[in-house]
Amino acid sequence: MKILIINGPNLNLLGQREPEIYGNQSFENYLEKLKLRFNKYHIDYYQTNHEGYIIDRLQASEGQYDGVILNPAAYTHTSIAIADCIKAIDIPVIEVHISDIKKREPFRHHSYISPVAEKTFMGHGLKSYDIAIEFLGQYVSKP
Ligand code: DQA
Repeated sequence: MKILIINGPNLNLLGQREPEIYGNQSFENYLEKLKLRFNKYHIDYYQTNHEGYIIDRLQASEGQYDGVILNPAAYTHTSIAIADCIKAIDIPVIEVHISDIKKREPFRHHSYISPVAEKTFMGHGLKSYDIAIEFLGQYVSKP
């Protein structure tokens, strides 16, 4: 199984950014361990601070990957364009958040992505990505 993880804006600052919410580990550091834990899968990683680049990468992932794990970060709460893209492509997209957006500021409660994502996992810290990969493994192997 080939998986692409896409992280949106400011997630390149994990480890230094609001550690009380996002923890003190960089994503690169976590990714190394994630790849070891799921060494039966091929995992690629892409991070960008730009909305359009997320869309370009999602479109390009069709036919190249079995699934995408997407943390759209702040675009979760604003991006109709990313939601439209997910609807337009034929590949399962799993939405992930490190924090529980439902328990934070009211402006984070709404996600444009959840209605179009195959599934959403949030609030488990970086473990949310582990859970999403496990889900994808089962989802993809179903006939
Ligand atoms: C986030 C939650 C978003 O509200 C926020 O803008 C982020 C990260 C999370 O992973 O918890 O940048 O997506």
